[in-house]
Amino acid sequence: MTRGGRKPAAKPDRKGARRRAAELRETIHHHDHRYYVLDRPEISDAEYDRLYRELVELETAFPNIITLDSPTQRVGGQLREGFSEVEHTARMLSLDSGDAEDDLRRFDARVRTALEDSIEYVIEPKLDGLSIELVYENGLLARASTRGDGRVGEDVTPNVRTIRAVPLALRTDARAAPNLLSIRGEAIMLIPEFERLNASLTQEDKPVFANPRNAAAGSLRQLDPKITAQRPLDLFAYDVMTVDGQTPATPATHWEMLDGLRDWGFKVNPLIGLATTVDEAVEFHHELERRRDDLDYEIDGIVAKLNDLAGRETLGATAHHPRWAFAYKFEPRREVSEILDIVIQVGRTGKLTPVALLRPVDVGGVTVARASLHNREDVERKDVRKGDKVRIQRAGDVIPQVIERIEQPGVRRGKRFEMPARCPVCGTPVVREGPLDFCTNGLACPAQLKRRTQHFASREALDIRGLGKRTVVQLLEAGLIKSVADILSLQADDLIKLEGFAELSARNLVEGIERAKEVELPRFLYALGIPEVGTQTARDLARHFGTLEAVLGAAQPELESVPGVGPKVALAVHEFLHSPSTGSIISELQDRGLKIKAPAGSEVEESSLAGLTFVFTGGLDSVTRSDAQELVRSLGGRTASSVSPKTDYVVAGSDPGSKRDRARELGVKILSEQEFLDMLPQGTR
Ligand code: IVH
Repeated sequence: MTRGGRKPAAKPDRKGARRRAAELRETIHHHDHRYYVLDRPEISDAEYDRLYRELVELETAFPNIITLDSPTQRVGGQLREGFSEVEHTARMLSLDSGDAEDDLRRFDARVRTALEDSIEYVIEPKLDGLSIELVYENGLLARASTRGDGRVGEDVTPNVRTIRAVPLALRTDARAAPNLLSIRGEAIMLIPEFERLNASLTQEDKPVFANPRNAAAGSLRQLDPKITAQRPLDLFAYDVMTVDGQTPATPATHWEMLDGLRDWGFKVNPLIGLATTVDEAVEFHHELERRRDDLDYEIDGIVAKLNDLAGRETLGATAHHPRWAFAYKFEPRREVSEILDIVIQVGRTGKLTPVALLRPVDVGGVTVARASLHNREDVERKDVRKGDKVRIQRAGDVIPQVIERIEQPGVRRGKRFEMPARCPVCGTPVVREGPLDFCTNGLACPAQLKRRTQHFASREALDIRGLGKRTVVQLLEAGLIKSVADILSLQADDLIKLEGFAELSARNLVEGIERAKEVELPRFLYALGIPEVGTQTARDLARHFGTLEAVLGAAQPELESVPGVGPKVALAVHEFLHSPSTGSIISELQDRGLKIKAPAGSEVEESSLAGLTFVFTGGLDSVTRSDAQELVRSLGGRTASSVSPKTDYVVAGSDPGSKRDRARELGVKILSEQEFLDMLPQGTR
C-alpha cells in the first residue's frame, strides 16, 4: 500500500499518468475505507484533499485513463428519466417480527424443535433504513437496487455509488473477490444529517421528512444522483445473498460471513453479539433498547439469526420470510395523545414556533406533554386543532413531534388554528419569511430578551456561574435588566432583594459576572446568538480571524472561505453582525467592561489535539469537566457527549457511567485523568 502525497513529475506522459493515477486510487480507496467504514482516519482532511486533487488533475489532463472504480466517479451519472427495474440475484425476503417477548420465545422453540441441536444466534440491531442489494461483478460494483417486491427492485446504482461506505471495488488484501458477489445491507441516514437536512429544507420552503428512514429513501430515489451525493447516507452490510452464482456462501456460520463482508471493505454494525439461549437474546434486546437514544442512527429492534448456515438450509423459508431469523422489535416510540392547546413560543431569534400541549403520555419510557409543530406551514399541512387526537413520535434525541392527526368520524372539531398576526409576548406585528414567522422587535421583545440573556450566560457562552435560566426570569421580572448588557452591571445589593438570594450567593454571582468579563473570542461569538452559529462554528470563526475586529471587518466571501462555513452561515453571520442592534449591543457590553481575548494557546499548542475526539465521563479531580472540554477544544480537538466509533479517547474520572462500558465495547481507548493531563502540552495543564 502506498500512502502520502508524493508530487507528480512536472508533466507526466500518459503511461506515467496512468500508473500514478492507479496508485492514487488505491491510496484514496484505502483512506476512504479508514474514514467511512472503520472510522479511524490515518491522514488529515487536507492531506486527503491533496491526493484527491492530484488524481482529478491527472484524470482531467488524460480523460481516457479514468476507470469506473475511480473515487472521482462516485458522482458520474447524469440526470435520469426514471428508474429501471432489476431482478435480484436471489429473493429478498423480509423478516418475521413481533414486539412481545413471547413472540421471540415461540420462534426459538420452533427452531429448537426443528434442529434438535445446540443453537447459537447472532444478534444484530435492526436498522431502520431501507434494504438494498449490491451486486459486484469481478470485484466491481455493477448494480444496486431497492428491495421492491422482493424479486424485482429499482435500479439505484448511480445513487448508491455516492455512498462513501460502499466500496466501488471489493478490497482483496485479505480475501479474494468472487466473480459474482451479491450482498444485502441497510442504507440509513444518520440522525444529525437528518436534522440538518430538515433544517435546510425548511429554509428553502420545502416540506420536511418525517424521520431518518424516509429521508434516506427520498434521497436514494433521486433521479439526479448529485442530490443524493449532497445528502450523506451510510450503509451497513448484513447478509451475503449470492456468491459465484450459488447460495449460501462458503463460510459455515453467519459470524464468519460477516468477517468476509468486513474483509471486502463493507461496514458491518459493531453492536452485534452471540446468544446461545433465548434469555440472552432477550437481555440483548433490553440492553439495546436502553442504548437506543445514545446512537446516532435509528434502530427499531434486534434481529436474531441462526448462526449455523447449514441449519438455515434445513429450516428454509416461507413465501415471505426465512424461518431462521426473527426481528424482536422495540416498543413503538409513537403514541396517541390529545391536543389540549396550541401555544406559541418565541425563540431567541424571534422565530415563532407553534407548540402542541398534549395530554401527557409515555412514549418509549419518556413522558411527553409538549410536541413541536415546527412552523405555520407544518400546522397548516397537518391541520391539527385543539381537541384533536394525534399521533406523536420521539426519534432519538429529537424533540417530540406531532406526526399526524387521527380521524375521529362523527366528532365535531375545534376551530382551525391560525398563527397570530402579532407576537403573543410583545404585540409587534409578525413578519412572514417563507414557512416561518418572526417577531422583529428584537431585544425589545421580552421573550427574545429572556432567551438571549439565558443563552448569553449559559455554560458554552459566558459561563456565568449562578446565573441560570430561572434567575434570568427573576431579574427580568424585577426590572433589574432591560438589555443583555445590564447583567454586567448587576450589584449584590440588587440581587439580595430577589427570592432565594442571600448575601453569599449574591456576592458569588457578582464575582462570577466579574470573571466572565474577560471572555475568549469563540465564547463571545457563540454568546451573541448568531443564527446558525453553534460552538463549533464560533471556534472555527475565531481560529480563522483571531480578533473580533477581523470578524466584523470580513466581507461575506471571506467568511465563506472559513472551513466549515457555507454560504448560508456566512450570510447569517454577516447580516447579524452588521445589524444596527448588534453593533449597539457590542459597544454597550464593552462600555460595561467586557474584554474579548484571543483564543488561548500558541500556534503549535493550538493544534496539538487536532483531529482527535474526546468524550468525558465521571468526575475529574483537578479540573471541571467543562474546563477540560474547553482545553481540548482550544488545542484543536473536538469533544462529544456520547461515545461512537468516531471517538478517539474516553477520559474516565471517578464513578464513570455507561460511556466507559460503551468505549470498551467499541474498542475506544480509555484514559485516566492523569493520562489525559499527560497528553497536554507543557504550560496548558
Ligand atoms: S436480515 C432474509 N438484518 O428489516 C433476511 N435485516 O423485514 C434478510 N433490517 O427488509 C434481512 N436490520 O431491510 C436483516 N440486521 C438486519 C437488519 C435487517 C434491518 C431490515 C431489512 C428487512 C427488514 C425486515
